[in-house]
Amino acid sequence: MEDSEAYERIFQKIGNCEPILDVGCGSGNLVNFLARKTGKQVIGVDISQEGFAEAYRTASEAGVTHLVSCCKADARLLSDLEQEDHFGAAVCVYVCHEIGKPDLKLDGPIKSLQQVWLVLKPGGKLLIVDFLKGHEGETLWGEKFYTRSQLETIMETAGFERISVEQPHKDKLLFLLGIKSS
Ligand SMILES: C[S@@+](CC[C@H](N)C(=O)[O-])C[C@H]1O[C@@H](n2cnc3c(N)ncnc32)[C@H](O)[C@@H]1O
Repeated sequence: MEDSEAYERIFQKIGNCEPILDVGCGSGNLVNFLARKTGKQVIGVDISQEGFAEAYRTASEAGVTHLVSCCKADARLLSDLEQEDHFGAAVCVYVCHEIGKPDLKLDGPIKSLQQVWLVLKPGGKLLIVDFLKGHEGETLWGEKFYTRSQLETIMETAGFERISVEQPHKDKLLFLLGIKSS
């Protein structure tokens, strides 16, 4: 699936919630896409600030600088942001398989999603998008992808409810949506 198609699907799923948190935002492609589409505040966090300059350059070109901010943070320590019950939606796209590198264990993403749960408003949505176990990145880069049921367990253990899962086009990309109950 092309990024543009995945991004459109992400937008459809989170709707007009605000503000939006992008966990593991990299160079901010999705941050900028969502800012343009929704006209709402989008905050990207990443453990590395390498992509932030590009994110701000793209935001400036798209005229959404006032809606975009990027912040260096470890997804496992989002409490450092001091924004409990703040976000209407969070997205975590192509990130779960990297959290906790190089010591990849199931508790890395669980810890992070518990932190996401804390910073979401009651009723807030979390959308995870990631490739499934068996992705070529496992052999190419030693990454750890999860099965569909592991990803559901990760979300449930972190406190999310009403989890719905979609696997469009029968490819290995999965969309999981969960809610922080009010
Ligand atoms: C494959 S990239 C995906 C970037 C972006 N979400 C996208 O869709 O293009 C994974 C990103 O997750 C970030 N990341 C990995 N572990 C993280 C952590 N513990 N906390 C925050 N970001 C993390 C990496 O720095 C990287 O930018």
